Amino acid sequence: MGRGVKELLSDFGHDLPHHPPSPTATAVPGPFTHATSWRGPRRAGAGWAASRPPVRQYRMTSDQVGLYWPLTTATPMAATGAPMGVDVLNGSTFYVDPHGWIQDDQIPVTNPNIFIFGKPGRGKSAWVKAFCNRMFAFGYQALILGDPKDEYELLCRHFGVEPFAIGPGMPARLNPLDPGPLAAGWNKLTRAERDHKSGLIFGRWLVLLRSLIGCQTIGDHRVPVGPTEEQILKAVLDTLTRHDTDSRELRPIVLPQVWAVLNNPSSELIDATRFPDRWRFLEETRLLRDAVAQLTTGALAGIFDAPTSITIDWQAPIQSMSLSRLAGLGDQATGMALACLSSWGSAMREGGGHRINIRDEAWKQLRLGPDAVASFDQDLRLSRAHGDIEIAVSHKPSDYQSAGHAGTQAQQIAKDLLHLADIKVLYGQDADVADDLDHLLDLRPLARDAITGWAMHRTGRALICVGPHTHKVHLALHPDLELPLTHTNHNLAPS
Ligand SMILES: Nc1ncnc2c1ncn2[C@@H]1O[C@H](COP(=O)(O)OP(=O)(O)OP(=O)(O)O)[C@@H](O)[C@H]1O
Ligand SMILES: [Mg+2]
Repeated sequence: MGRGVKELLSDFGHDLPHHPPSPTATAVPGPFTHATSWRGPRRAGAGWAASRPPVRQYRMTSDQVGLYWPLTTATPMAATGAPMGVDVLNGSTFYVDPHGWIQDDQIPVTNPNIFIFGKPGRGKSAWVKAFCNRMFAFGYQALILGDPKDEYELLCRHFGVEPFAIGPGMPARLNPLDPGPLAAGWNKLTRAERDHKSGLIFGRWLVLLRSLIGCQTIGDHRVPVGPTEEQILKAVLDTLTRHDTDSRELRPIVLPQVWAVLNNPSSELIDATRFPDRWRFLEETRLLRDAVAQLTTGALAGIFDAPTSITIDWQAPIQSMSLSRLAGLGDQATGMALACLSSWGSAMREGGGHRINIRDEAWKQLRLGPDAVASFDQDLRLSRAHGDIEIAVSHKPSDYQSAGHAGTQAQQIAKDLLHLADIKVLYGQDADVADDLDHLLDLRPLARDAITGWAMHRTGRALICVGPHTHKVHLALHPDLELPLTHTNHNLAPS
């Protein structure tokens, strides 16, 4: 590089006059620095963010903090799991990590289950879909145990999975009395193991049969399933499986076999159930037999009364059973199908891995009656033994109570059921449901106002209860990827 005039003159001892540098104002950093907009930086290639970027950090003493941010609190949760929106109280990303929370002593959560409540159309199912989508990255798999509106089909197809279509005339058969992987290698089990497993399998079958029979009505009354009916059903299951006398395998059974044995009882069955003769047996069990017959000849005939014909791909990120074809048969048929799938799904568990079991529109099943609530309760407990995340979606907490009259055992079960989920996502509700929420979930007035006010003002706003702590969280969906997959308002759009 050539030398300049300044350097040449300086060789001869001359210095050119020069301007003194102008005193530039040195920027004094203020306490508030610039944070990127939650929409992301405005430039090509930079774009939408699932949540706001991490909050800026400031250093000051704790007595100064209260002056700048009088109402905010820090999020005590670690940034692990699915980012599920913005905690509006402090602007930070709210992460949902049920399994991580259980292991963290600071977070008062002892089970990974999530119950979601909210008025229709507030975004409950969208939350579930976004949660699954964001948990798949951590190796989780989702099983939709009944999709009454076929709304999970888009999500399934997005991941290259074809959902199972269940309904009259469809080829898929699902046997709710399938013993599932629990019965694998039966002949190699010790006597004690066989007793333990048969207790689990029979317990599930009985509770399901009680719920399917008990939800049928004669006028205003439900078909009674008391201790006598339960003993008869137990004896029928024993007769069919012969698990006491035959240790080679646990025979899978189907509903029509239960009816056939009841309708044509053997002398052993009559003895086992302590009826004096065949005539008395048939006379006393007429209602029970007719109710069982309804399961194989009624609305659900040809769907849940044959050996299971579908194979679940345990490697796929998501599997779903579409039930919209049952819609024409009424809410009760859909509720019964959900009960069958819920029970079946809790037994179909093999291998390790983390699974998310989803029971959307669970209220349809719970409305079937006290036995259906008990069956739902048992399914959740059974799945919980595997550490799966159970998600149940309903409109309001009292859905879980409506099955029983005040003060009955069903109401107590329904109340206890709410304690099976330490995580609750509460979407907007009308004021008249607020009392329910207060009463059942012990919410404080601020939380109650958030649900009936703040959460009602925009879709995607929810109060997330993590144990006794509540967080106001706004979930943003990706406009191109997630919104189209969660869109359920097609029918409401003007044509
Ligand atoms: N966070 C969100 N941001 C923007 N739109 C949303 C959000 N959550 C849901 N929506 C939209 O709101 C509509 C209703 O959502 P969704 O079907 O999840 O409601 P829902 O509470 O499950 O209703 P229902 O009780 O009838 O099943 C959908 O079209 C969905 O795309
Ligand atoms: Mg929904």
